[in-house]
Amino acid sequence: MKITLTAIKADAGSIGGHICPSEQLLAAVEDTISRQGRGLIIDYSLNYTGDDVAILLTHDRGIDNERVHRLTWDAFLAGTEVAKTQGLYGAGQDLLKDAFSGNTRGLGPAVAEMEFEERPNEPFLMFTADKTEPGAYNLPLFLAFADPMHNAGLILSPAAGKGYLFTVMDVDYSEGDRVIELVTPENMYDLATLLRDNGRFVVESIHSRHDGGISVSCCTTRLRNIAGKYVGKDDPIMLVRTQKNFPATGEVLAPFEICHYVSGFMRGSHVGPLMPVKARSSVSFFDGPPIVSCLAFSVRNGILTEAVDAFDHPYWDWVREKAAQKAHDIREQGFSGAAMLGIHDLEYVGISHRLDALEDDFIVR
Ligand code: F6R
Ligand code: MG
Ligand code: MG
Repeated sequence: MKITLTAIKADAGSIGGHICPSEQLLAAVEDTISRQGRGLIIDYSLNYTGDDVAILLTHDRGIDNERVHRLTWDAFLAGTEVAKTQGLYGAGQDLLKDAFSGNTRGLGPAVAEMEFEERPNEPFLMFTADKTEPGAYNLPLFLAFADPMHNAGLILSPAAGKGYLFTVMDVDYSEGDRVIELVTPENMYDLATLLRDNGRFVVESIHSRHDGGISVSCCTTRLRNIAGKYVGKDDPIMLVRTQKNFPATGEVLAPFEICHYVSGFMRGSHVGPLMPVKARSSVSFFDGPPIVSCLAFSVRNGILTEAVDAFDHPYWDWVREKAAQKAHDIREQGFSGAAMLGIHDLEYVGISHRLDALEDDFIVR
C-alpha cells in the first residue's frame, strides 16, 4: 500500500514564555484533527517539543495535499484561539500568513512529508527540534548516511554501501526552490562543503541508491523568507525511514550524542549545543538549550503503533549532562565572538540599530 506521512509543527502559543503549549491548547488541536480528519486521514499522533506542537498524520492522498494541509492549519488555528483565551505567550506565532492558501508549506509551520510503498515492516522516526534551525540536522545526517567512521553500517550492508542521493536546498534563495543533488560516496567533499553552512544549505531529502526509496524528508522552511524579517528560529521537523536499505535506527540516532553547536537558543541569536531530550520536554535554561526529540513508530496500512521515545534511555541521560556542560561552557563567554550569531542571523534589531547610531561618531584617522 502506498501511504503518505505528513509531519507538521508550529508554535501556536505557550505557557510562561516560550516554554511549552498548554493541555487545553493540545486538546483543541487534537479535537480538530479527530473530528475534521474523519474520512480524510488514516491515523495521527500528537506531540510537542518545547513550545511547538507536532502533528503526524498518515493518509493516502500524497504530499502537498490541500485538504490534509488545511486540516493541520485549522487545528493550529483552533489551538491559537485557546492560546488567546488562556493568555498564552506568542499565540499563533508561527501562523504567519492570515489566510490558508492551499498549502501549509511557506506559510510558517514546518512541514516534512514523504510518500512511499509501505514495506512489510515499516519503521520510521520523527525528529522535532526547538530553538534551532533546519540546518541543525545536516551534521547528524551526513554522519549517519555518508561517514563510515561514524556508521560502519555503510560498509557492512551491501545495500547501504551503494550510497545515497542527497537533495540539498539553498534556503537563502527566496525566488523559488534552489536545490542541488549530490551522491555519496563520490560527492562527499562537495556535500561537506555545503553542509558545513547550516544557515544556508539544508538537506531536504535523502534517497537510497540501491532501490531509489526515500529515507529522509526534512523541512526547509525559512521563516525569515516568509515574513520578510526574522520572526523566530525555524524549529525543524524531520522524518527518517530506517533499517534494511537505510541506516539502522541506532545508526541514525548515534550522531546526536555529539550535541553539536547549532544556531538558535535565547532570542534565536546565540550558539548552543543540540540536546537530545525526552518527548514532551520543555525549554528552560537561557530559553534552551536547543533541543531535539525523536519518536519511533512502526506503521502498517497507515495505522501507527504507539510512539516510542527514542531518547528515553539511560544512555541519553549521560548525553544530556554533556550537553548541559557544553551549554554552560559557551554561555560563560556571554556576548563574545562565537557565543552569538553574526549580524545577519540575529533575530532582533537592537544591535543593528546601535551600529547605525554609532556610524556618524566613527572617524577615519
Ligand atoms: C527564541 C525564542 C525566545 C524569545 C525570548 C524573548 O526563538 O523564542 O528565546 O526570543 O524569550 O521573547 P520576546 O521578544 O517575545 O519577549
Ligand atoms: Mg516560540
Ligand atoms: Mg519553537
